[in-house]
Amino acid sequence: MSTFKAPKGTYDLLPPDSATYLAVREAIAAPLRGSGYGYIETPGFESVELFARGVGESTDIVTKEMYAFETKGGDRLALRPEGTASVLRAALEANLHKAGNLPVKLWYSGSYYRYERPQKGRYRHFSQVGAEAIGAEDPALDAELIILADQAYRSLGLLNFRILLNSLGDKECRPVYREALQTFLRGLDLDEDTLRRAEINPLRVLDDKRESVQKQLGDAPLLRDYLCDACKAYHEEVRELVTAAGVVFEDDPKLVRGLDYYTRTTFEFVHDGLGSQSAVGGGGRYDGLSEMIGGPALPSVGWALGVDRTVLALEAEGVELELPATTSVFAVPLGDEARRVLFAKVTEMRKNGVAADFAYGGKGLKAAMKAANRSGARYALILGERDIEQGVVQLKDLESGEQTAVGMNEIVAELESRLG
Ligand code: HAM
Repeated sequence: MSTFKAPKGTYDLLPPDSATYLAVREAIAAPLRGSGYGYIETPGFESVELFARGVGESTDIVTKEMYAFETKGGDRLALRPEGTASVLRAALEANLHKAGNLPVKLWYSGSYYRYERPQKGRYRHFSQVGAEAIGAEDPALDAELIILADQAYRSLGLLNFRILLNSLGDKECRPVYREALQTFLRGLDLDEDTLRRAEINPLRVLDDKRESVQKQLGDAPLLRDYLCDACKAYHEEVRELVTAAGVVFEDDPKLVRGLDYYTRTTFEFVHDGLGSQSAVGGGGRYDGLSEMIGGPALPSVGWALGVDRTVLALEAEGVELELPATTSVFAVPLGDEARRVLFAKVTEMRKNGVAADFAYGGKGLKAAMKAANRSGARYALILGERDIEQGVVQLKDLESGEQTAVGMNEIVAELESRLG
């Protein structure tokens, strides 16, 4: 062990477990790729101001959890705590919205950073796969995203997740509700911090996890009862489209999110096997975000699913993904001449698309065969001095144990045909 450890709240992804993470990322991305979403990658850091304005000045993410720093050049930057603001910034900067093809549909996968109190499922470095559909107000788009996330989780074999759905209203009806909620909250027995939060962002108080607070919120006014006709009709249409797709959700009139940009449709995917960090993914509509960061009006919707928590959900359900072995053929040379000959064969195999590995380090037969078995390869190729003289190589099927001599010049074609 070295003197250094992974920083607090972080962990390393190591083989063989790391293969599950890759498979989860791929499984979440697959339905997006098949639905017109193009891949986008943005920098790991952005101007602090982008997140302050986008995610919200008063959110925990911006006030407490941002890794913000000043560069040697005097720029104020932050490691990205989320992806939506960055993706929208990039789309606006590249004028993707002016190409005459709205919505601009993008997906991404990467690392995010929040200085949170670490616990199971809550890390300071975590990984999301996300999707953003920019520049269209259409309930079918909201429905599409919910359906695609459901499809991704189901393709992984997850069953015990629930979809919570709510509408947060728009700039017409939300302010009216906000007032009503504020008036209600002022009458409660709340500590100073919470009362202050009620003044800045009263909806966040609804999300307070403390029993002492929750117990007073029973009669809180619900946004549902304040939605304007347009928001109500929009929400009803989203609900109908999702239902028609056979995707089951729960209406959660108290669902609020930790980011301020949401309008109308908001949703969260929660998994019941994860304890307190139960949100495996979340998202919603953010019709005002573009203008908040200096762009034109671009109603948009998106989500991000947490890869770390999705892996924990798989563990909680006891789902083992079927991950095919990465190595098909493991080559075992016995002696120096065999090493040269067999190494050339391995190179040739790889060029022909056969996944092959090699017993390095001059191992003896026993240790090398152990390595072959551990690699998960279906076949071992063993080459000794006598084989070289006879122009053959020993092909061993590691499943059946059967071994046959195959001509050196035929072996690559033979493996290609056996591996299909
Ligand atoms: P979020 O709900 O903050 O939304 O994060 C989405 C998911 O990222 C969470 O449900 C969770 O699985 C994962 N996650 C967040 N924080 C942590 C953490 N500290 N440790 C482990 N996993 C975590 C957003 O980030 C929005 N940008 C989603 C969105 C996209 N909305 C519209 N478009």
